[in-house]
Amino acid sequence: MNLLRDTTALALAMCEKYLKETSVAVDATCGRGNDTLWLAERCRKVYAFDIQKEAIDSTRTLLEDAGVAAELICDSHNKICDYISENPDVIVFNLGYLPGGDKAVTTNGEETLEALTLSLELLSVDGLLCVTMYPGHPQGAREQEMILAWAGELDKGKFHCVFANMLNQPVGAPQILWITKKK
Ligand SMILES: C[S@@+](CC[C@H](N)C(=O)[O-])C[C@H]1O[C@@H](n2cnc3c(N)ncnc32)[C@H](O)[C@@H]1O
Repeated sequence: MNLLRDTTALALAMCEKYLKETSVAVDATCGRGNDTLWLAERCRKVYAFDIQKEAIDSTRTLLEDAGVAAELICDSHNKICDYISENPDVIVFNLGYLPGGDKAVTTNGEETLEALTLSLELLSVDGLLCVTMYPGHPQGAREQEMILAWAGELDKGKFHCVFANMLNQPVGAPQILWITKKK
């Protein structure tokens, strides 16, 4: 696997370093369930959110076929604290729209920022928040701009942020933000 050529693999390779068999993890945007499946194969418990029933149904089918389980929640990720009181070691946001679905239904900056802020509160100390952003469409570009501005202002005593920018790829290539909580 050439990690620098595959954004999803790169994002998850970093997550792998923060997971244990006993970990709780969250997929904040489960979509077709690929990230949920990846997490469910490695953790004790996975919570997966999506606002679209189509996404939840796809994810359920993928998990059932693989014989693994996750708690699937058809609600917005900015309600994360209504459903989770544990401290996840990894929280994954793969932003944008459902692959093969309605492109009009996409994550949006305001709701995403709320969800990211709550996620940092829940995250375990030394846990990882992983955000894959898609600036190739106008809503995604705006969302990424808001997220990077927010991340750049986080207290450096409490969080450490790393941003992977695909420098020589076409404008709009996916980009990754990782944040760990130091205390
Ligand atoms: C790029 S897809 C996720 C891909 C997915 N991780 C996979 O492996 O297939 C983004 C998903 O975010 C969902 N979404 C949009 N707004 C959301 C919100 N407020 N809360 C939770 N999910 C949301 C969309 O419905 C879409 O399915």
